[in-house]
Amino acid sequence: MNSNQHPQDIQGVSLLSLADQYELPLYVYDGEKIVNQIHAMQEAFASVPLKIKYATKALPNISVLKLVRNAGAGIDAVSIEEVRLGMLAGYEASEIMYTPSGVSWKEIEEAVDLGVMVNLDSIPLIREFGEKYGNRVPACIRINPHIMAGGNSKISVGHKHSKFGISIEQIDQIVQTVEKYQLSIAGLHVHTGSDILDAEVFLRGAKVLFDAAKHFKELKFIDCGGGFKVAYKAGDPFTDIQEVGRIVSKAFLEFCEDYGRPLELWLEPGKFLVSESGYFLAKTNLVKETPTVTFVGVDSGLNHLIRPMMYDAYHDVYNLSNPNGPERTYHIVGYICETDTLAADRKLSEVRAGDVLVLKNAGAYGFSMASNYNSRLRPAEVLIWKGQAHLIRKREEFEDLVRHQVQIEL
Ligand code: LLP
Repeated sequence: MNSNQHPQDIQGVSLLSLADQYELPLYVYDGEKIVNQIHAMQEAFASVPLKIKYATKALPNISVLKLVRNAGAGIDAVSIEEVRLGMLAGYEASEIMYTPSGVSWKEIEEAVDLGVMVNLDSIPLIREFGEKYGNRVPACIRINPHIMAGGNSKISVGHKHSKFGISIEQIDQIVQTVEKYQLSIAGLHVHTGSDILDAEVFLRGAKVLFDAAKHFKELKFIDCGGGFKVAYKAGDPFTDIQEVGRIVSKAFLEFCEDYGRPLELWLEPGKFLVSESGYFLAKTNLVKETPTVTFVGVDSGLNHLIRPMMYDAYHDVYNLSNPNGPERTYHIVGYICETDTLAADRKLSEVRAGDVLVLKNAGAYGFSMASNYNSRLRPAEVLIWKGQAHLIRKREEFEDLVRHQVQIEL
């Protein structure tokens, strides 16, 4: 068994000891990995004035946001709640980009009142923003570049039929509306999707913005979004961030020369920063042999990790408790009253009831998409930082399920 692929410890902290110390299931994050990913991105784009705006939605724990901030990255927020989480983590409003999609006007006003840059993603919103704020509040515009990209249809968001952004074909209308209200446009943005392997796709997105930029004289930044693909299993291809850095930086610098004023390049990585940092630990409740399949039932399910169900996502699984046992093939399933297969047809070293399984790549969109479905409690989160384990979110208690229910007399 390759211990790099199937780690028994993170920064010297044994995962089995964490399983003993905290109730399972449990999310564990390797803080060093997150910081290393930030540094890798900063290095890849060292030749341009880069600003990383970490996509908070991937893993919105306040302690993780603090770590990201200390490593020199800002954040992208999709809700006013994420903006507030960022501020609790110590972010200045000026370090936060707010990229909502179809939210209420009230939420936009709240963000402006806090001093956060708003990314406008519809023409009616540009109009409303213009009517209220004119040129007093700089804003960004999200362009839909008509690029089909992303690991699957649910996470491909930059194509012609996507709800996100304003179609690049409507650029004249955008410009007219901006001029009508004398809006101060500080940035242009694209985000084409998630799990994008090909460096060329990022370049194509950037070029759409470079082209659109000629209509705006006061830009301060170009935001090329996130979506960098990570490897979900050994041998899986992943975005070559060095290559993206090389080709996008070169094109960006050429564009800046033409544009005639200094600009920043913004990126919004989520998965790239946190996916591989995350390990989801779950205990085996039973091993059930049927005439066709051997099921391993864990004390968790789609309520804690929905990615396999929602996107057919692949999460590598290993048996932490029995690393050297004989290999067998299993379906790893949850306890939810749905067919919540977390991993199908996997070879694992022999699994026994009580064994702790680890699902890898659980840092991004793992906890953040967890729910209370089947009236289950959401798990705790632990951050490993400087060789120490820190509890950064307590496991929910039954009280949490009941707290907001209003019991009436019937
Ligand atoms: N910027 C914007 C405007 C976004 O909508 C997103 C992700 C990102 C940046 C970061 O994308 P990333 O670097 O993480 O790929 N739940 C799905 C992914 C949904 C992504 C939503 N938007 C999954 O688990 O695969």
